[in-house]
Amino acid sequence: MKRKQLVVGNWKMNGSLSDNAALLDGLSGADGLMALDVAVCVPYLYLAQARERLASGGVSWGAQNVSEYDSGAYTGEVSGKMLVDFQVSFGLVGHSERRSLYAEPNELVGIKARKLLEVEVTPIVCVGETLEQREAGQTFEIVSSQFEAVIEQIGIENLGRIVIAYEPVWAIGTGLTASPAQAQEVHGYIREQVALLDKAAAGSLRILYGGSVKPDSAEKLFQQADVDGGLIGGASLNLIDFLTICRLAT
Ligand code: 13P
Repeated sequence: MKRKQLVVGNWKMNGSLSDNAALLDGLSGADGLMALDVAVCVPYLYLAQARERLASGGVSWGAQNVSEYDSGAYTGEVSGKMLVDFQVSFGLVGHSERRSLYAEPNELVGIKARKLLEVEVTPIVCVGETLEQREAGQTFEIVSSQFEAVIEQIGIENLGRIVIAYEPVWAIGTGLTASPAQAQEVHGYIREQVALLDKAAAGSLRILYGGSVKPDSAEKLFQQADVDGGLIGGASLNLIDFLTICRLAT
């Protein structure tokens, strides 16, 4: 039996109150989503709107980042506790855009994952290699180091409380999806590594694939044994495409 699939939309820095309203209402009223978990990670400013429009349906909402601090003089930052005020279920940490554009190192990603767990929000820990790293045969090594830095912060005992998203950097926003075999290879590797630490957690861990997932590429990816759903960027901004992808995960 496969794990319950999870499809998460990452809106990144997109949206407006009026555009979001249609998208959120469409998700909230959609059928055919009972057999899987669905969430959207929206810009902080729209969490209240997501809560208001999704509260009565089966779709959850989450944030795209979190501060490594609890409170204080950190201009522009948002704490885990603030996210809890808006009943978020998930928070992304370590997205490759945060790693590359905002220079977030592995250790910081681990701390952010810990901060989310402290307030009972599920971290979606993003890992993935660049094209250069893949071509240099370093994919497993890179993914391991990103993942180990998180375990160091959260502890092996919390492995059962996170979601991992494998997002090869070269596939994000490029239209170049990893092939189902490439995705499965890395997902299988991640699960094996987790199993070395905690067999039960490895069995239940959801590992999402992200990187140019579209309605026409989703089905084969989701069929892979260790692919438990997707983290969807661009296609999550289009209601029909996102719902199609969600339904293909069941
Ligand atoms: P795209 O689906 O737009 O490639 O983005 C993937 C992603 O970064 C999701 O977090």
